[in-house]
Amino acid sequence: MTDRPWWQEAVVYQIYPRSFNDSDGDGIGDLRGIIDQVEYIEALGIDAVWLSPIYRSPQYDNGYDVADYRAIDPLFGSMDTFDELQETLHDRDIRLIMDMVVNHSSSEHAWFEASRTDPDGPFGDFYVWREGDPDQPPNNWESAFGGPAWTYDDIRGAWYLHLFDVHQPDLNWENPEVRSAIIEVMGWWFEKGLDGYRMDAVNLLSKSEGLPDGDPNGEWVGQEHFINGPRLLEFLRMMSDEVFEGTDTMIVGEMPQLDVAEAHAFIGDGPFDLVFPFEHVDLDFGPGGRWDVRPIELSELKAVFDKWQRAMADSGWNTLFFENHDQPRSVSRFGDATRYRYESATALATILLGLRGTPFIYQGQEIGMTNRTFPSLQSVHDVDTIRNVQAKLDTGEISSYEEIRPVIEHRSRDNSRTPFQWDDSHAAGFTTGDPWIAVNPNYPEINVASEEERDASILDYYRELIALRSADQTLIDGQYELLAPAHEALYLFTRTTGTDQRLVAINLSGEMETIVLEQLQEDAEVLIGNYDASAAGGPELSLAPYEARIYRQSV
Ligand code: GLC
Repeated sequence: MTDRPWWQEAVVYQIYPRSFNDSDGDGIGDLRGIIDQVEYIEALGIDAVWLSPIYRSPQYDNGYDVADYRAIDPLFGSMDTFDELQETLHDRDIRLIMDMVVNHSSSEHAWFEASRTDPDGPFGDFYVWREGDPDQPPNNWESAFGGPAWTYDDIRGAWYLHLFDVHQPDLNWENPEVRSAIIEVMGWWFEKGLDGYRMDAVNLLSKSEGLPDGDPNGEWVGQEHFINGPRLLEFLRMMSDEVFEGTDTMIVGEMPQLDVAEAHAFIGDGPFDLVFPFEHVDLDFGPGGRWDVRPIELSELKAVFDKWQRAMADSGWNTLFFENHDQPRSVSRFGDATRYRYESATALATILLGLRGTPFIYQGQEIGMTNRTFPSLQSVHDVDTIRNVQAKLDTGEISSYEEIRPVIEHRSRDNSRTPFQWDDSHAAGFTTGDPWIAVNPNYPEINVASEEERDASILDYYRELIALRSADQTLIDGQYELLAPAHEALYLFTRTTGTDQRLVAINLSGEMETIVLEQLQEDAEVLIGNYDASAAGGPELSLAPYEARIYRQSV
């Protein structure tokens, strides 16, 4: 035992309940479905589950539009089923983290209904309203999902701000009543036994006074006035003092566009335990931004990880992730999903679990689920993709879906939202009904049951690697050092505690690679590898396509 907080030793598994397992045949995953698979989750060896939102919601953004923060959406089950799930996980020493969405609510939340119908009532100031010409939005800010961030509401006769969908009005954090209402909700779930929160889009809470226009050429127009805004830290500190203080919880803030230099303000002695930055997954944005793709070099990816690893060496702690419900599948993006699916998925796993920080694994990543094709805009469900494509069609930036299809197939959030692939039966065993989103056509081949039958499977590798890391203080806490930083095929780094060292060696290319690596000792022992490489000490190191190894040696 160490005196380190539990979440620094934890491996977290993210479940997107809608797409995980459906117990009642309505085509949408649910809480009972998660309970039914708790043994699968336990066998992975993870320490905590993060659930994407299950609160009552009209589901315009699949639950990231909350209509009641204290109720479970009937799509997913009841509060009793929630309690049962929490208890079932706790009985197995697995903690439960929920998503908390407080930058905005649903437009169907009672607060918004009251706010739009009774401007002078107690909720009149709960959202960001501006009066004015119904043809002229109050400023030029854009919604992350494309188009203006303002909608004119005929009922109130005023504009309201929504940094995301029109059904996701931004809460007015300047209003102390809003702050107390949210704080109450957050404390309420802790009393029910919850172990932490993943705070959705939480660096957007504070907007610049006067809501001035943003740079019209910015990647997200207006962002300099709402990302890490003037009162953000104050709001988060208040949350921390009133809700997190003295609890044994994990709080991780999702913070788009966060720079490493800014991160320390939020963690360490800051209000949160962890942040999710996006620098490594934003590397492939092209000159045209998010809806443009460029190839990335391995050296760039290593440089980003290296910067964050070094920045967190003495204070703070990293999150480690390649996937979540907003990101495409990592084996398609950073690996080779056709020729080397097993090898590249396990190589990526070795990076994820080999670096210093808290690893987050997204459902399906552990069986190497891949991106899919989206032949038409009608085959897309994600509000982000649909609205952005529509906005580009409306402005004439593109003339057809086909033009942008390769980008969509690379980037769309639907890639990670297809049903979890359990077996090769109807709808991959996800539902007995009609799934809400089409199953990836490769499910007869890629699924848990077929992984269980293989000699060497991605799933087995994940289980073995998680077990190895969870029991290895050097992999958890050892100091990180990058070797051969400029190499474009090999990712080599060490983790060291005193004289005990792990050397992590990964080939992220489809070719055999050889290097003379002085740091690799002759008697180094392979702890885990995705090829058969029991006696492969240095200094000459040869790695097959996407080969990955973790060595133990003394220094
Ligand atoms: C976060 C969520 C994303 C959601 C958005 C608005 O980025 O991860 O899924 O659409 O916030 O709540």
